[in-house]
Amino acid sequence: MAESMKGLKRTARCAEITEEYIGQKVTLMGWVAAVRNKGGIVFAVLRDRSGTIQIVAEDSDPRWGSLKTESAVAVTGTVQKRAGAVNPNMKTGSIEVIPEELRILSVAQTPPFEVKDGIDTREDLRLKYRYLDLRRPELQRKIIMRSRVVQLIRDFLSGEGFLDIETPNLIGSTPEGARDYLVPSRVHPGAFYALPQSPQLLKQLLMCSGFDRYYQIARCFRDEDLRADRQPEFTQVDMELSFVDQEDVIDVNTRLLTFLLEKMPPVMRSLGFDEELIRGIEASAADLRENGIGRITWQDAMDRYGSDKPDLRFGMEIRDVSETVKGCGFGVFTGALENGGVVRGINAKGQGSMPRKKIDKLVDTAKTYGAKGLAYIAIHEDGTCKSSFAKFMTEEEMQQLIAAMDGQPGDLLLFAADRFRTVCAALGALRLVLGEEMGLIDHHAFRFVWVVDFPLLEWSDEENRFMAMHHPFTMPNEDDWQKIDSDPGAVRAVAYDIVLNGTELGGGSVRIHMDDVQEKMLEVLGFSKERAEEQFGFLLTAFKYGVPPHAGLAYGLDRMIMLFTGSDSIRDVIAFPKVKDASDLMMRAPSAVDAKQLEELSLSIAVKE
Ligand code: AMO
Ligand code: AMP
Repeated sequence: MAESMKGLKRTARCAEITEEYIGQKVTLMGWVAAVRNKGGIVFAVLRDRSGTIQIVAEDSDPRWGSLKTESAVAVTGTVQKRAGAVNPNMKTGSIEVIPEELRILSVAQTPPFEVKDGIDTREDLRLKYRYLDLRRPELQRKIIMRSRVVQLIRDFLSGEGFLDIETPNLIGSTPEGARDYLVPSRVHPGAFYALPQSPQLLKQLLMCSGFDRYYQIARCFRDEDLRADRQPEFTQVDMELSFVDQEDVIDVNTRLLTFLLEKMPPVMRSLGFDEELIRGIEASAADLRENGIGRITWQDAMDRYGSDKPDLRFGMEIRDVSETVKGCGFGVFTGALENGGVVRGINAKGQGSMPRKKIDKLVDTAKTYGAKGLAYIAIHEDGTCKSSFAKFMTEEEMQQLIAAMDGQPGDLLLFAADRFRTVCAALGALRLVLGEEMGLIDHHAFRFVWVVDFPLLEWSDEENRFMAMHHPFTMPNEDDWQKIDSDPGAVRAVAYDIVLNGTELGGGSVRIHMDDVQEKMLEVLGFSKERAEEQFGFLLTAFKYGVPPHAGLAYGLDRMIMLFTGSDSIRDVIAFPKVKDASDLMMRAPSAVDAKQLEELSLSIAVKE
């Protein structure tokens, strides 16, 4: 039976009660986290978003003993010093409440899993009952932290003169890489809105309107395959600035990140986050304050780390041995070089005695990234070698290759020979796998880096043409522009990404504001005049009325919070995330709709087998 809370007013949250309250009467409201009956004395734990407190009920009200966990209750009672031992793991561990009145506001059924930290319940079950899952302290902490960080971001940006301006979610379909989510129009049969993949074009128009510094915490929608750091709808901290260049954007964002890292630790401490994580953030704040954020060019990042989002928490850099092996007897190597490829390797220090089975696993990993194989040299402690390709090499060639890799007794050298991109992908992935396995990654370190000088264009085998690496409005590097016809792939863009611990946190660019450059860019991308007009004529027209030079950037907020809270997936920092197949297990979306709804939208379903 549910009781009313009439006449009661909550005086504080559970974990806000301190020793200063001793002797005072309080009314607490929350959920029953645990009930233990010890010889007539009932020890209950009451939980709300602030934390927990112990209630000690001595046979005053017989209902205490049969309280169902997760029921919502109101308790009025007096705070006292704990009669029993102090609990050092509880913020309120030195006090307890002696109840005078219990009201059971709502009785809970037995929950499908225990509402506490560290459970190993399947994620799909947790997501089906997400509202219960979200009661668990570890998720509460993360969701609260997310709200705090957003507030800090707003404080900082507003202090820097940015205006928060909303842009619509029902817009026209424009190409920005991923597939659009479409929304059928009832009023215009057969026509569709698209949900924005980002506010990109709209924020550029806001620059045309003169709002010079814009930001928005914007929901974005992309119909792409999900991963641990990708959701079909996610949140960007989106910004755009006028009359600025790359340096201005990097400067304000470096200061924003420094501000966040400095402001977060006390908040995280009060929420009970892991102390080691907090210290890592403090160390990073000090580093940023002193040294700013380093930069690496895209080319350098690819060459040394095999990735445009390098994880700089450890070394194990890739080395190019193309020169060393160019005349050797191993056809795999020379063949790759003859086809314009490269031969590169990594040195897994001290892994020379890795069992064959484990090496085979590394080969499989390389293959999943498109490599045709992985050649290795295991250098034993006595200096002898075991290698998958020694039989094709002279002893001298082997020694030269080992020297080029700085191979020492006990090391494992791994080589890939292929096209540049394939070698980067394979060795970059192996580097991460090995870095993790070898314990080289400090999981409490925060290593930021700006990746700059991205290529403007990227060849697409699928489309058989160049595509914009960032988007079609990204400014080419002036120094390279003359190569746009002769060697389009070599033209760099004024585009930059902010990378943290191997994750792309955000990215942006300076935009094109000259119509001749924009026209040429669209031509290179294979847009006819008509198609360009049809897809973004409104932007091209707007640019004819005095467009300021402008640039911007957007962070993935979910990824930012994931990394700052030490989470493995963005699902942990989104209140109601979707699962791998993009469905919502709790609301059962997507779902079929009424025939009537379809009819109103002039739609019919052509069922696919
Ligand atoms: P971009 O496409 O790089 O740039 O997106 C910016 C940032 O958004 C995050 N992100 C995602 N997060 C979760 N799930 C996803 N599916 C997902 N996709 C992207 C990433 C990424 O760095 N309009 C430009 C920005 C600009 O040029 O100003 C844009 O959208 O952290
Ligand atoms: P094979 O002569 O094909 O058996 O190859 C000898 C060794 O070279 C094996 O260890 C293969 O995994 C490796 N290998 C094959 N193709 C490549 C490649 N593209 N890059 C690096 N190693 C390769």
